[in-house]
Amino acid sequence: MADFDFDVLVIGAGPGGYVAAIRAAQLGLKTACAEGRETLGGTCLNVGCIPSKALLHASELYAEASSGALSKFGVSFSGVELNLDQMHGEKAKAVKELTGGIEGLFRKNKVEWLKGYATFTGRDSVQVGDRTVRAKNIVIATGSSVTPLPGVEIDNEVVIDSTGALALPTVPKELIVIGGGVIGLELGSVWKRLGANVTVVEYLDQILPGMDGEIRRESAKIFKKQGFTLKTGTKVTKVERTGSGATVTVEPAAGGASETLTADVVLVAIGRRPNTDRLGLDAAGLTLNKRGQIEVDHDFATAAQGIWAIGDVTPGPMLAHKAEDEGIAVAENIAGLTGIVNHEVIPGVVYTHPEIAGVGRTEEELTNAGIEVKVGKFPFLANSRAKTNRDTDGFVKVIADAKTDRVLGVHIISSLAGTLIAQAAQAMEFGATSEDIAYTCHAHPTHSEAMKEAAMAVLGKPIHM
Ligand code: FAD
Ligand code: NAI
Repeated sequence: MADFDFDVLVIGAGPGGYVAAIRAAQLGLKTACAEGRETLGGTCLNVGCIPSKALLHASELYAEASSGALSKFGVSFSGVELNLDQMHGEKAKAVKELTGGIEGLFRKNKVEWLKGYATFTGRDSVQVGDRTVRAKNIVIATGSSVTPLPGVEIDNEVVIDSTGALALPTVPKELIVIGGGVIGLELGSVWKRLGANVTVVEYLDQILPGMDGEIRRESAKIFKKQGFTLKTGTKVTKVERTGSGATVTVEPAAGGASETLTADVVLVAIGRRPNTDRLGLDAAGLTLNKRGQIEVDHDFATAAQGIWAIGDVTPGPMLAHKAEDEGIAVAENIAGLTGIVNHEVIPGVVYTHPEIAGVGRTEEELTNAGIEVKVGKFPFLANSRAKTNRDTDGFVKVIADAKTDRVLGVHIISSLAGTLIAQAAQAMEFGATSEDIAYTCHAHPTHSEAMKEAAMAVLGKPIHM
């Protein structure tokens, strides 16, 4: 290996980086991974996917037990109490187990963890702490951080970001969420279920940008039914701390009279931006695009020879599974294999109740692109299992090419949408038509029958509607 210390050095140990490092090591490459955090796993395991899902699950159990929602099934509780410290403790345990698990996988696969933040000192050399190492291939997987709202200071007590919202020591009475995207609705749901009044202020005229229009409209109806106040088409002009709380001044996005809202806690969740500040990219000969991302080609190679990039720091949806699949593909490409990610088929899931999921293109995107489509929809109100479970919010929408019948997008609202969407992704990966899904035998009684019926509806012949 001449004077290189490693075949592969991965910078960042999130779902993109740790997966790339393990796959590279599995392929026989001498691999190291630099990570500045105290624990491995990146945003996702430490302050993202995992702790948020732990709180979503626990808060759902609390809401079911405390709201009396289960009494119609003959299950009644009295004296239900919230022990928030215990809830946080169980979340922390899950995070510790999973981040520790990555450490174990690194040991098993002989990936060396270089502890500290990495800075390029040349195209093939990087400084981590007081050590400088040379690597034949360097994979940038530094992820993303919270986008700040200009003029608004995050103190993580009263004005918080997603990390603060995962650790509130008490349930706020009034929570204002700035941003009606995935984080705002997931973490807003946690604190709503635990007792907060939640107001979501969204700049656009619909929540959940990027999702299918019908899904966005129906989701908004469901969240309002749950008691969320949704202020769409509204911009925040000022956030001011007032003693123990804050005031938020808002006005219509199109202009008009302003209004002042008060809250104990304000959550800023207006998106995330790529982490590149500490990298010293000049030394590597790399520049950023207009959105601050590192551009890559189909193989995840950057413009600099031997430097690759994956995950949130590159263009595309900021999702853990996208980063992971890119991690596997980049390692395979470095090893001389053919690593591919089909970016047309990346599912997205919002883990609220019900869940909201989509894969492929939205009806609006297809129509705007001049593609003629046929749409089949099936409501969970007509699905026997959902009806039995008294869990009928939502529908499945299958969008197929009008000429070829090939499925181009599937969008779902359902308590099980996150699980159901995998079937749609697999069908699309295999180039399925709506007829292929419609003629696949689905077990009865399951929520997945709604997918079959929605596919049958594309051809105009659902049975139970
Ligand atoms: P990251 O996970 O951000 O990891 C990058 C790592 O690089 C970090 O640990 C950072 O410390 C390290 N690093 C940065 N710079 C350097 C440097 N110079 N040297 C060394 N190390 C460095 N996605 C989903 O798919 N599902 C979800 O349910 C989900 N929930 C989320 C909930 C929240 C609250 C948040 C904030 C995000 C959530 N996401 C979810 C998004 C998901 O966390 C990211 O898409 C994913 O973590 C991106 O992976 P990554 O490997 O690109 O980067
Ligand atoms: P987001 O992009 O999903 O939503 C941000 C929202 O804020 C948008 O609706 C936007 O229009 C709105 N907004 C922007 N500026 C505003 C302003 N000044 N005033 C009011 N509204 C404003 O970003 P979010 O929720 O912060 O999440 C960041 C990323 O993390 C997302 O890209 C998402 O992919 C990822 N994530 C994924 C999860 C999942 O897969 N379940 C869960 C949580 C996060």
